[in-house]
Amino acid sequence: MDSAIGVFDSGVGGLTVVREIMRQLPSENVIYFGDTARVPYGSKSKDTVLKFSKQIVRFLMTKNVKAIVFACNTASALALEEMRQEIKVPVVGVVRPGARMAVEMTKTKSVGVIGTDATIKSGIYNEYIRQLDPNVTVVGKACPLFVPLVEENLLEDRITDDMVDRYLSELKPYNVDSLVLGCTHYPLLMNPIKRYMGDAVTLVNPAYETAKELKNILEKNQLLNQKLDTPAYEFYVSDGVDKFKAFADEVLPININSVNVVDIESY
Ligand code: DGL
Repeated sequence: MDSAIGVFDSGVGGLTVVREIMRQLPSENVIYFGDTARVPYGSKSKDTVLKFSKQIVRFLMTKNVKAIVFACNTASALALEEMRQEIKVPVVGVVRPGARMAVEMTKTKSVGVIGTDATIKSGIYNEYIRQLDPNVTVVGKACPLFVPLVEENLLEDRITDDMVDRYLSELKPYNVDSLVLGCTHYPLLMNPIKRYMGDAVTLVNPAYETAKELKNILEKNQLLNQKLDTPAYEFYVSDGVDKFKAFADEVLPININSVNVVDIESY
């Protein structure tokens, strides 16, 4: 089926998930929406994140998408389960796949999770990880300043190293052997986080497992695109086209042609 997969995030972070979808599902068409006018979601209330997510899903449905990926941990944590019933196509979030991967990876049964304030406060990673293995201890740490550092493209910078040190020093006493990058922006800080945590700690990027789950769901529902044409990728944002495009060209393996602005409040 050649309808596109709809993917959304509060900004550019979800492009780390699109990158993984491009790798694992190279024949699929993708429509991406980044809510760049309203980012960050991580400091907002559940009601607000729910309202934003509903507007975006309504917009994506106007494009006849065949599946929707919540490529945002905050939206996955606060909105996905409540919206699942009303969405008429298969839906995948990033939290459950990330939790599953963390449980697979940990040997010491001590897992760290970093994310936005909202994701960490929701306790959702803790809940999902302990559903899978009640013997795992989960330590969560909100790292709110990581998002603006990524949005400003300060991926390798002294300020970023300082923030990594400040946030992650709190995790050190727990001797975690797996650390979930529970925010779609954080895989872009993989290098400074890896340098700080050291080789003994596995960094879990939920994007990989999310794309794998998406592939399984499309297969099961016979929704895979059988056409072998070059896939089409469309990008929409709520503001800041140039900045988004420059960022996407760095993160994705392709250069994107155009980015369109959507008045998302009207959905
Ligand atoms: N992309 C969001 C997430 O994965 C983080 C950015 C935000 O706070 O909106 O949680």
